[in-house]
Order: sequence, then structure tokens, then C-alpha cells
Amino acid sequence: MDIDALTHPTDPQLATGALAEAAAAAGYAPSIHNTQPWRWRLTGTTLDLRLAPTRVLQVTDPDGRLATVSCGVALHHARVALSAQGRHATVTRMPDNTDPELLARLQLDGRTPVDPAAVLHLRTIPLRYTDRRPAAGTPLDPDGLAAITAAVETQDTHLHTLRPDQVLELAAATDHAQSSAAADPAWQNELAQWTGPARPAGTGIPDAVIPNHATQTTVPGRDFGHHGDLPVGGGHDEMAVFVLLYGNADGPLAWLRAGEALSAGWLTATERGIAVVPHSAPIEVIAARQAIRAMIASIGHPYLVLRLSGVNSAGTGAAHTPRLPTGQIIEHA
Ligand SMILES: Cc1cc2nc3c(=O)[nH]c(=O)nc-3n(C[C@H](O)[C@H](O)[C@H](O)COP(=O)(O)O)c2cc1C
Repeated sequence: MDIDALTHPTDPQLATGALAEAAAAAGYAPSIHNTQPWRWRLTGTTLDLRLAPTRVLQVTDPDGRLATVSCGVALHHARVALSAQGRHATVTRMPDNTDPELLARLQLDGRTPVDPAAVLHLRTIPLRYTDRRPAAGTPLDPDGLAAITAAVETQDTHLHTLRPDQVLELAAATDHAQSSAAADPAWQNELAQWTGPARPAGTGIPDAVIPNHATQTTVPGRDFGHHGDLPVGGGHDEMAVFVLLYGNADGPLAWLRAGEALSAGWLTATERGIAVVPHSAPIEVIAARQAIRAMIASIGHPYLVLRLSGVNSAGTGAAHTPRLPTGQIIEHA
């Protein structure tokens, strides 16, 4: 913490700077197809998170559920950055029911002791990434899985570890989801727009992080419609563990909370050398989502499937995807 912040704790300019830093840290958040579907509006001691409708996938994600989950990750990243700076913010989610694109409002209202866990998370934010290489080799550390589950639970969301028979059901649902989506030319166009050479600058998924050949997996990874440049070797992802983020409701507030939970769980995973790959294809297609819901019918609504894997594939060498410059995501009132 800088000296000014200690000697002038109420200085509104410092507060505005803290919020700007939080929004900048949130720019590292993962998002569906790296669309970064968020926009921040900074007014004095208030920071608004808005959905950016031009970066919502109209065909793949017509309800905006995955865009809202992505914004929830950004919201949690911003909260982490404020806690790491010893700032207390009151967060109001979906504060205006006449303005559904306004997802959250953070109002700074004072100082709080710096949270060491938040400081660690803040350092982890730029290091986290999606590692699509097969999970061969090292089994997942059970303590790591317990820590990720506990982190998710702090955000009013739950994590269910799929049993082997459920992993087979997930594989079938994912396969069905990907082949039915791929048969739709509008869906193919949208995928190509975000993962092909004409993707908008600073967004989308570059070839450097797309496997250079089909990986051997029980549950198919995202079919990007083309191979990329990421060397993936020949191993089978036999050590992968599949978990399901789920909760009690199925609407924008629950999706936002799911994103916050995804952030909490993924930062914890990265700190423990555990690689995470979200699998959203089985959530995007209604029939597959219903099949997954049937697996957990008694306990809630599915938000996202995650593939977790041990240290052998985490933290080594995969390229990072680009991000939009902060000037394009933060608006100063
Ligand atoms: C809601 C959501 C859904 C995602 N779905 C997939 C997916 O189905 N397959 C995949 O390979 N990556 C998926 N991702 C990962 C994104 O592609 C990735 O976060 C983005 O490209 C940014 O890259 P990074 O995570 O390496 O920073 C998803 C991420 C989010 C937040």
C-alpha cells in the first residue's frame, strides 16, 4: 500500500484509482470464446459492471448465460483486487430491474485490513490460463479438489465431482451438443468469427492455444472447427477429473454468482498447480443441458462443466490469449 493511501484514506482520487485498478485486473478474466463481454463505468467511488451486448454470442449463447458467467468472473477479479488493496466495497448485484445489462454496482465505503489470500489471488490473476493439453500423468491432488470446492462454496455456488458413469454420460451429451451445433451454419459462422483469423483485435481465441491435432479424450474438448498450433503430444486425458458448477436457480443473478465462483475456484486451482478447462458446449445446447441437469436433478441447475487435471500440464508453456486494452473496457464518467 502506498504512503498516500495511509495518510489520506478518504481521498476520492485514490478511491477512484483503486476502482480503476480493480477494473483493469478484471480484464484478465476468462470468458466464453474470449469475448470479454463486460464494460465498466467508473464514477467517483462507484464502479458499474455492464454486459456488453455487442460481445454476447447471439447464436451460441442467446440468453447471455455464458456471457453473464464470464462477467461474474470479472466481478470476482475486481473484488479480489479491492480486497488486496484493503478497500471495502458494497456489491449490489442486478441493482436495477429496469436495466438488465447493469450486472453489478461496487460502491467503495472505506478501508478494511488487507486480506493476504486476496493478495495471493491478485498475483495469480494474470498467471491463470486455459490449458487445453490432455491431462496425462499426474493424478489430481484430493486436497486441491477440496480447496477448489470450498472456494466455490464461498460464492453461493456448488461443485459436484462426476462419478465415472456420469463422465460417460457427459461425454455422450457433449458429443451430441457439438455435432448438433456444428450442423448449424450460423453457429459455425459465429465460432469462426471469434476463433478464426478475422476475429476482432484483442479478443477471440488464437491458434497458439488451440491443439494442433485432435486430443485423446473421454469427454471431447471444444471443437474449434480447425486445428491450431498448440503442441499437445499423444497422451490420453485419463487423469482428468470432471466437475460441475451448479446452484439453486437458473437466471442472471445465479449465472453471475457462478462466474464469481468460477473465479474463486480457478484462482485456487492455479495456486495449487491444477489446470482448468471449462467445457460449455454441453451447457449451450438445451438437450445436453437437460441431460446434465437430469444427472443432478435432485440438487440443482448446471452452469458449467470443468475439466481439472494435475500438475503435469499446468503452468508450463501455453501461450496467453490477448485482451482488450483497458481504455476499451473502462469508461470514466
Ligand atoms: C463461461 C466460459 C465458458 C468457456 N467454455 C470453454 C469451452 O467450452 N472450451 C474451451 O476450450 N474453453 C472454454 N472457455 C475458456 C475460454 O476460451 C478462455 O477463458 C478464453 O479464451 C481466455 O483465455 P484464458 O482463459 O487462457 O485467459 C470458457 C470460459 C468461460 C469463462
